[in-house]
Amino acid sequence: MIEEMKRKAGEKAAEYVKDGMVVGLGTGSTVKYTILKLGERVKEGLDIIGIPTSRNTEELAKSLGIPLGDINEYQSIDLTIDGADEVDPHFNLIKGGGGALLREKIIAHASKYEVIVVDERKIKDFLGKFPLPVEVTPFGYLRTMKVLESLGCRASLRKKNDGIFVTDNGNYIVDCHFGKIEEPEKLERKIDEIPGVVEVGLFINLANEIIVGKKEGIEIRKKN
Ligand code: A5P
Repeated sequence: MIEEMKRKAGEKAAEYVKDGMVVGLGTGSTVKYTILKLGERVKEGLDIIGIPTSRNTEELAKSLGIPLGDINEYQSIDLTIDGADEVDPHFNLIKGGGGALLREKIIAHASKYEVIVVDERKIKDFLGKFPLPVEVTPFGYLRTMKVLESLGCRASLRKKNDGIFVTDNGNYIVDCHFGKIEEPEKLERKIDEIPGVVEVGLFINLANEIIVGKKEGIEIRKKN
C-alpha cells in the first residue's frame, strides 16, 4: 500500500517534465518512481538533461539511459522533483533521511520550480517528529554535536552497518531529535551558523508544489 502511494506520486510528477528541460533528479524511494518513468520516456524520445542529487540517483539514471549534466554546467534548473521526510502546511520540509540533503539543497536552490513527491504519511501539522538531519564535517564532529544539543535536541551520529555513515561529500550526518519545531526558519539559521555544520535538512521556501500519493488517488498542493 505504501509503495503504491509512493508510485502514484512519483509517476505523476514525471508528467511535468517536457522536452528541452534541465531536470533536477531527487533522491529516495518515492522519486525513484519518477526517474523510472523518465527513463521510459527518454527511450521514447524525450529530450532532457538530468542533474542528479546523489551518487545513487546518478547510477539509477545512468542505468536507464537518462542523459546527465553537472550543476556547474547547468546552473539554472527548470524543474526539480524530489522526495521529503516531512512536509508542513507552509510547504516547509525536512529532508536528508537518505543523507543527500546537501546536494538536494544546492539543486533545489538552483531550481525555478521544485516539486516534492511524498506519500500521505509525510504530511504533518508541524515539523520535527522525524529527526532533523544535519551534515557536519568529520573534523570536530563531537564538538559540533554538543553545540547542536545546546539548541535543545538530542543529537545522534548516523551509523551504517558497523561504521559511521559517510555522505557523498565525505561528511557525517547528525540526526537531531528536537520534537516539535516551532520556528523552522529561525532554527535553520541558527544551525547554519554553527562552525562544522555543512548544511541542515530544513528546506524553507524551496518547494513550490507537493504531490501526495494517497490510499485513494493523489492530491496536488500548489504554493500561491
Ligand atoms: C534523501 O536524503 C532525502 O532527502 C529523501 O529525499 C527523503 O528522505 C525522502 O525519501 P523517501 O522518498 O525514500 O522517503
